[in-house]
Amino acid sequence: MYNKPIIKAVGSRREFFDENDPIITEFMDCIRDLLEIPEVKELDKFHQHCNTSRLQHCLSVSYYSYRFAKKIGANPREAARAGLLHDLFLYDWRTEKTPQLHAFWHPKAALENAKRITELTNAEERAILEHMWPLYWGMPSTKESLAVTMADKYAASIEVICQWSLVFLRKLHIVRS
Ligand SMILES: [Fe+2]
Ligand SMILES: [Fe+2]
Repeated sequence: MYNKPIIKAVGSRREFFDENDPIITEFMDCIRDLLEIPEVKELDKFHQHCNTSRLQHCLSVSYYSYRFAKKIGANPREAARAGLLHDLFLYDWRTEKTPQLHAFWHPKAALENAKRITELTNAEERAILEHMWPLYWGMPSTKESLAVTMADKYAASIEVICQWSLVFLRKLHIVRS
């Protein structure tokens, strides 16, 4: 279980619980109900990329999906909700055997899990299923799907870059372990 509090999206300065920030308040209103669901909370038990928990990753993707959606004229609420649920699978992808390669399998698993905990719009379903583009399940077919796909790559890249930068700085004794 991760004990690090999740304060903000990786790479962002805006804090999720800053009630004086109108962008954050509007974003949090889109996903607040989902954050109370046990299966979503449980994402904090799993590693995603490097030392990022899956819940931190999903919150980052949700936030950036919301921001990208506003920029490209997609529905920001649907993008934020699909972003939060896009990796809703409760297994360790490094060790668990799945019927197909994890990269191909997990969007479908996440969609089935998401359907079990909440009602999804068609755009949310497409966005969860298509978020691994260009690997599998077809190109983004809606603007919300495009927002989530871009946000997933963006958040994952920052997570990996931050982690490797830290390793590098530690090796040079610029920061302590
Ligand atoms: Fe994924
Ligand atoms: Fe992801």
